[in-house]
Amino acid sequence: MHFIKNNAIVVTKTPHTAEEFIQKKIELLTDEAEPFFAVDLEDVCNKHIRWLTLMPRVTPHYAVKCNDDINVIKLLAYLGAGFDCASKGEIKKVMDLGVSSDRIIYANPCKQSSFIRYAQEVGVEVMTFDNKQELLKIKQVYPNAKLVLRIVTDDSNAVCRFSMKFGADMKTAHELIEKAQEIDMEVIGVSFHCGSGQMTSKAFVDAIQNARIIMNYGIKLGFNMHLLDIGGGFPGNIGTEDYFAEIAGAVNRALDEHFPDDGTVRIIAEPGRYYVASAYTLATNIIASREMIEPETGNAKYMYYINDGVYGSFNCVLYDHYVPVPSLFAKNASNDKYTSSIWGPTCDGLDCINTTIELPKLEIGDWMYWKNMGAYTISAAVQFNGLPFGKPLYFMSKQFWDTVKAAFLTVPRKYQADTSAIRLNSTDCSNEVEDDMLPWLPEDIAEDTTVVTIQ
Ligand SMILES: Cc1ncc(COP(=O)(O)O)c(C=O)c1O
Repeated sequence: MHFIKNNAIVVTKTPHTAEEFIQKKIELLTDEAEPFFAVDLEDVCNKHIRWLTLMPRVTPHYAVKCNDDINVIKLLAYLGAGFDCASKGEIKKVMDLGVSSDRIIYANPCKQSSFIRYAQEVGVEVMTFDNKQELLKIKQVYPNAKLVLRIVTDDSNAVCRFSMKFGADMKTAHELIEKAQEIDMEVIGVSFHCGSGQMTSKAFVDAIQNARIIMNYGIKLGFNMHLLDIGGGFPGNIGTEDYFAEIAGAVNRALDEHFPDDGTVRIIAEPGRYYVASAYTLATNIIASREMIEPETGNAKYMYYINDGVYGSFNCVLYDHYVPVPSLFAKNASNDKYTSSIWGPTCDGLDCINTTIELPKLEIGDWMYWKNMGAYTISAAVQFNGLPFGKPLYFMSKQFWDTVKAAFLTVPRKYQADTSAIRLNSTDCSNEVEDDMLPWLPEDIAEDTTVVTIQ
């Protein structure tokens, strides 16, 4: 199987940082290059290990919308994560890789009927809803669906808020449970999302408490309420490790208080940015520059035009409130700084990545790199003006991978060899992928793949 045609996978003998990887790659370039991402697959693995360590009761279902890179999905499937899909396309993408339907939650509270039908066809039973019209629609299209009621949260401290669009308030949530009972629809649990880039752990604690109230009401009405979904919103940038640990601690305490570990409720989450934000470092090249002299002072200001912009990988500037700051290589280090701005390559004036930044004087052809570029970047990028955006190049050390593999493959695996696609049959997101699904193994490398082995 060649899942990675046209993608380069670099297996290194020893661990490397993204900066080292980018530098090596640039040294090897023979021609003017396009932007690329250094994707640190070790970082993704480490995030997963840290999640399991700090929140052992919560099974992560990776939010595919955050970054639908097939190799990240495959890696997380291998490691045992489930998936949060928002559409037919995402469900198909994940299931085409062999992930079984019971590892997927269709977590979009407002769904197109034909997509609900598709979920039914492929066996994705668990889906969210937050209003009466959706409940009635699902009843019509997929009466055996297993419903998860999404409640509203206080997401006022989140970078991207959702509460104005999704989530039932407590009164409505009670009414929805009653309505579900009246029309004989099965409600199995409660979900919430505290907003993407949530800045307080209290939002999670309060939401868990509210979920308990709704779960209790469902139980009172006779439902078997056995699923709690605590959503996404967990931080994933470099340097947010302590903050993640704080949230995890608060979540664990709230779960222990309201959902004691007695085996009656399965707890899942839908982290997106947590898994991928720090793993992707974007390398861009300066393709043009402009010097402007301020008439009053005679000071020089510089405009730099780089080969990726807000229509491409930097769409996070528009959609995710991101303020990207470039890192420079040592050769550009200088104490002389000039007021500068950084622009994308399209003909649109909106295509500005950084309006004011103090930088040393840079030249056309110089590279800069941008950390924390894995979340809400490539999944929403387009080739406006026919311009390409960053292409992912993956790296991981053989040494690290061997260790991870040994750790994660201690759980027995089932493997159905008689199906054309490798299936990951699981009721519990255990680790059941065969080695040959992994992108970086030598036999998986297609002829048109560039492979560079860094010694
Ligand atoms: C329903 C749902 N779940 C999960 C996520 C992922 O959120 P985050 O990337 O903040 O973890 C989102 C983000 O939009 C979402 O809408």
